[in-house]
Amino acid sequence: MSPDPTASAAAAAARPGRVRPRRLRATPALRRSVTQTRLHPADLVLPMFVKEGLTEPQPIASMPGVVQHSRDTLRRAAAEAAAAGIGGVNLFGVPLVRDAVGSGATDPDGILNQALADVRSEVGDALVIQADLCLDEFTDHGHCGVLTADGTVDNDATLVRYAEMALVQAEAGAHMVAPSGMMDGQVGVVRDALDAAGRADVAVLAYAAKYASALYGPFRDAVESTLDGDRRTYQMDPGNRREALREVALDIAEGADVVMVKPAGAYLDVLSDVAAASTVPVAAYQVSGEYAMIEAASAQGWLDRRRAITESVLAIKRAGADQVLTYWAVELACWLREEWR
Ligand code: PBG
Repeated sequence: MSPDPTASAAAAAARPGRVRPRRLRATPALRRSVTQTRLHPADLVLPMFVKEGLTEPQPIASMPGVVQHSRDTLRRAAAEAAAAGIGGVNLFGVPLVRDAVGSGATDPDGILNQALADVRSEVGDALVIQADLCLDEFTDHGHCGVLTADGTVDNDATLVRYAEMALVQAEAGAHMVAPSGMMDGQVGVVRDALDAAGRADVAVLAYAAKYASALYGPFRDAVESTLDGDRRTYQMDPGNRREALREVALDIAEGADVVMVKPAGAYLDVLSDVAAASTVPVAAYQVSGEYAMIEAASAQGWLDRRRAITESVLAIKRAGADQVLTYWAVELACWLREEWR
């Protein structure tokens, strides 16, 4: 029989004051020496937006502090991200023209592919350059895939587009492609296409457990989404916890190098399950709505901005994420460095 931990804790505490958890909280040095979870700049990945045709960066109203970059300012911001020592960047493109099949996604001169090449030539291998692999920014209807005649998202026709997109992104210089459309079989199809093209070197970051979340609202401003409706026929139901493990197991079987949970903060239970079950590294995406909530409350003076940001990302790591995609990646990395001094 194993000892009953409740009973032994009660016995130890029988003389008041014998056991004092507060002892280890008394000074910053004591607390630092026993902290279980630490953030490091290399844990952080910065999602970035680049819009075709811009000469100046454009602010995004619902994401104060985040911009749509021009190709030029994207390069500079990527160089700053590398100097800050973060782990990587994840690029999203905003094209000027959209069509039913998202042609811009597979055009080597499309904005995202040009931006990938720009960033690769700017920072080389100093950052992991991740490419969002999805059609929603490029389609006129705003869905993550192509549609059938009756307007539903055609899973298998979409996979063909994703395979093409992966090759163009690899050619442009992505180290990692990140299929985010939640189509069944997307990881396997992308892996096969890369391998058949001799690009076994390019990794796949799979959006494995991506929920149909209200917290993507500001992102849709950032990419000027044209979506009318929702993504509930392909993204996961927020009520489902077990299903995340099914998605993760499938993606790993299909060859995912990293699996992601998204959103992060409201899904820490899912993240904890995935971290326990996964045999590959786990990423979590602190999404635009998580960003907007803390920025808005901080702007009102209702939260201590720096502490709230740091704690929100720390909690994601504590729940089991090996890497966190966050719009605060560079600022947070700078704070972490300050704290080491
Ligand atoms: C879709 C995509 C979305 C986000 C990343 N990729 C939006 C969506 O699924 O509707 C959201 C990211 C965020 O909110 O920060 N390709």
